Amino acid sequence: MATINDNYLKLKAGYLFPEIARRVNAFAEAHPEAKIIRLGIGDVTEPLPAACRAAMVEAVTEMGDRATFKGYGPEQGYNWLREKIAQHDFQGRGCDITADEIFISDGSKCDTGNILDIFGDDNAIAVTDPVYPVYVDTNVMAGNTGVANDKGEFGGLVYLPITADNNFTASLPSQKVDLIYLCFPNNPTGAVATKAHLTAWVEYAQANGAIIFFDAAYEAFITDAEIPHSIYEIPGAKNCAIEFRSFSKTAGFTGTRCAFTVVPKTLTAKAADGSDVELWKLWNRRQSTKFNGVSYIIQRAAEAVYSAEGQEQVKALISFYMENAKIIREQLTAAGIAVYGGINAPYVWAKTPNSLSSWDFFDQLLHKCNVVGTPGSGFGAAGEGYFRISAFNSRENVEAAMKRITEKFTA
Ligand code: MLT
Repeated sequence: MATINDNYLKLKAGYLFPEIARRVNAFAEAHPEAKIIRLGIGDVTEPLPAACRAAMVEAVTEMGDRATFKGYGPEQGYNWLREKIAQHDFQGRGCDITADEIFISDGSKCDTGNILDIFGDDNAIAVTDPVYPVYVDTNVMAGNTGVANDKGEFGGLVYLPITADNNFTASLPSQKVDLIYLCFPNNPTGAVATKAHLTAWVEYAQANGAIIFFDAAYEAFITDAEIPHSIYEIPGAKNCAIEFRSFSKTAGFTGTRCAFTVVPKTLTAKAADGSDVELWKLWNRRQSTKFNGVSYIIQRAAEAVYSAEGQEQVKALISFYMENAKIIREQLTAAGIAVYGGINAPYVWAKTPNSLSSWDFFDQLLHKCNVVGTPGSGFGAAGEGYFRISAFNSRENVEAAMKRITEKFTA
């Protein structure tokens, strides 16, 4: 008889965003006249930059000609894209990262889960609370946790609360941990980490032989010049951090799929016999075995992000969403609702009005205003009493949603 991976049975209910979609679909079916505005999942709405579209069209034409047709590409990604990323995103910011340390993939969600393939099952793992749920669920699936308690916290994970008291940036753990997930600009709270804060983490990781998984999917939304975009801006990070980046939010690639993961060659972790093993070699082996790369057409589109026109168009896209974030912040603040984030990140983290629970506010917002957000408690126990609003939508929808919310709710 075939058996299953029982770890899946430990997972709490559905993954957050499908669960939201389920509730919204049920509401929409019962109220077909409702004009629902979705500010829940952070999914982009504006068209792909023209430079990316032109590059895709050209690549499609190449695929139609035997002389320029491409079959399997390198599993790690085409070198012309890896070079552009290394130069623009890292070397241009003073980070000593080379093209061969960059692995092109189809998403940082996938990579933050897949990376566990190359780590042992005996690591002490720290996550923030609230947290992007993928980090927790993939560890549950991999058997790295116990079962969940009533608050939804899994045994075996070290939860680091991020609250208004610590500016939504995690304090260092009091115990020794081996793997640490950090996401800055933060999903869901929109908080950012200063150089000093990241330096403290890098020093902790170096002192404890730990590896930091640094999710920088939202770095392009940083507006404050003092805030680091990459963990490799911190001295020593090349010895203790893997960084995840994505074109999804930066360039509107959520449906197009292209991201990358940086695994420095200087990074090592211990084998069972106590020897140091290069993580780059293991990740390269993993990707070569389980992944066949991102399509040529999409990689050409990603490369176009780094052209002069691409850069201009991407900046305009980001400014557009950040203006939405500003509108959300201002309108909710005017209604007396406490808000955080939304200045260096496309997410606004709001205190629920009238002490409503996160899911109660979700339901009221859906039913009274036909607006969808994301309940803070869906990101972890410490998110209870908060609500995330995404700035990814049209201006018209953001303005209409804020009008509906502020008419019905004041704190
Ligand atoms: C979110 O809304 O948190 C993101 O869209 C999820 C993701 O990027 O996978």
